[in-house]
Amino acid sequence: MANYLKITYLQDKQEDLKVNDYQFRNKPFPISPIYELQVDTFELLTQGENVKRVYKLNFQENKEVKHDYFPGDVIAILPENDQTEINELFKRLNLTDQCNKYCKLDLTDDAGKKSIPKHLPTHHVTLKQIFLKYVDVRSVPKKLFLKALIKHTSDQPDIEKLQQICSPSGSSFYLKFIEENRSLLFLLNCFPSCNPPIELILEHSTPLNPRYFSTATSPLNRQLSIIFDVLELPKGLKGICSGWLEMILKENNRTTKIPVYFRKPGNFRLKPNIDKPIMLIATGTGLAPFIGFLDHFRLMGSHPEIWMFYGCRYVDRDFICKELLQSYANDGIIKCLFTSFSRDNEQKEYVQHKILKNKEVVIDFITNKEATIYVCGDQKTMVKDVKETLVNCFMDCKNVDRTDAERVLSDLVQNGKFLVDTWS
Ligand SMILES: Cc1cc2nc3c(=O)[nH]c(=O)nc-3n(C[C@H](O)[C@H](O)[C@H](O)COP(=O)(O)OP(=O)(O)OC[C@H]3O[C@@H](n4cnc5c(N)ncnc54)[C@H](O)[C@@H]3O)c2cc1C
Ligand SMILES: NC(=O)c1ccc[n+]([C@@H]2O[C@H](COP(=O)([O-])OP(=O)(O)OC[C@H]3O[C@@H](n4cnc5c(N)ncnc54)[C@H](OP(=O)(O)O)[C@@H]3O)[C@@H](O)[C@H]2O)c1
Repeated sequence: MANYLKITYLQDKQEDLKVNDYQFRNKPFPISPIYELQVDTFELLTQGENVKRVYKLNFQENKEVKHDYFPGDVIAILPENDQTEINELFKRLNLTDQCNKYCKLDLTDDAGKKSIPKHLPTHHVTLKQIFLKYVDVRSVPKKLFLKALIKHTSDQPDIEKLQQICSPSGSSFYLKFIEENRSLLFLLNCFPSCNPPIELILEHSTPLNPRYFSTATSPLNRQLSIIFDVLELPKGLKGICSGWLEMILKENNRTTKIPVYFRKPGNFRLKPNIDKPIMLIATGTGLAPFIGFLDHFRLMGSHPEIWMFYGCRYVDRDFICKELLQSYANDGIIKCLFTSFSRDNEQKEYVQHKILKNKEVVIDFITNKEATIYVCGDQKTMVKDVKETLVNCFMDCKNVDRTDAERVLSDLVQNGKFLVDTWS
């Protein structure tokens, strides 16, 4: 099918057509306006080899932020793609001269029922801006797109490779290909004789989505902070948002405006009732929301009985906020702090191993003292294993069978006494 999008380059900037920068950006579940925040201070929280780089980023206070949030709430950040990757992409598409010109997007006369994808701004925009802010250049390429590229490919080996990947019998080639080439730039570089029009790429594009981050400060604190780790991907790439944030920090850039909104909360929110104790269980950067909880108790000047289980790889490399947690423990805000380090000894020690070792007191804390359990970690690994461990603890300590132990856990979930914040 012929392209249904048409790009017209404009002679001047046409200020009168200026659109709101965020109007076209994908913004799921917003409960606040978009606030532009700037970096105030930051700290690298990890050091050494074999650990992720984790940063605490403190935003400058922005008086426009009127939104009342709760500890545990999440902000959405609208990131930008990597400048170097986008510049390379335009070079590959022979559009380096064109990409900074203002343009407008229309439908061609024979577009039929097609419409301009909702995430693409239609006027007063440059191709560079579109590809930096609106298009996910790392999305999994669909077979339909790869098929459409064949028409714009001249060399037989490239055509055959594309045909093989798209064929119904080529699923394994397709899966391998998309795993290795999760960037439009890398994808095009696999087929040197493929020169698609930019309109085709835009037609098949998907929106650049926001990334979510737990608030790592109390709403009573006027300064909003997040704790994030930098995702290292194959071929020297970094995660889009974490890479973008790290670049801003490394440049010591305090002027870039980071667009942020508050996302509709789930049930992972600190309960206002401080009469009942709480148990916090986290691994890695899953500590982020709990740093917000603790900041809140500090500022409120009162707190429930708090137990915390925290796990990371090494005590002296990625135990983020170590001194802060120890000071909370010394001040009695955290009554019991259980730590586990997975790579300091030959035998891996995870949070659930510490739970198991302390099963009698843990089960007493949950059942007799009616503690609410908050867990923040990877759903498929840590959260699953913590749940399984708690089931085993119930079986051992309460002398019940698996069915009854599982029922105790599911009752806790049902009654909002076992709350999970997770990222997979
Ligand atoms: C409710 C919630 C709260 C969260 N809170 C926090 C928080 O407090 N702190 C924090 O650090 N994170 C948090 N996250 C995770 C965060 O939102 C982001 O997902 C994370 O920062 C990674 O985003 P990114 O843009 O850097 O990576 P992306 O570019 O989105 O990459 C993410 C994944 O996509 C795949 N991928 C992308 N490109 C490639 C490629 N080229 N090759 C192979 N695979 C690829 C990989 O599987 C990779 O893991 C939270 C997530 C949720 C849902
Ligand atoms: N609210 C949220 O959803 C939220 C908040 C913060 C961060 N995040 C995201 O979370 C990611 C960090 O992931 P992570 O916590 O897995 O960090 P990590 O630094 O990879 O892991 C932290 C610790 O968990 C251990 N671990 C691995 N498997 C486990 C298991 N089955 N049970 C218990 N512990 C286990 C690891 O041990 P080994 O590596 O030695 O096996 C390590 O010691 C980031 O990419 C970030 O984007 C999401």
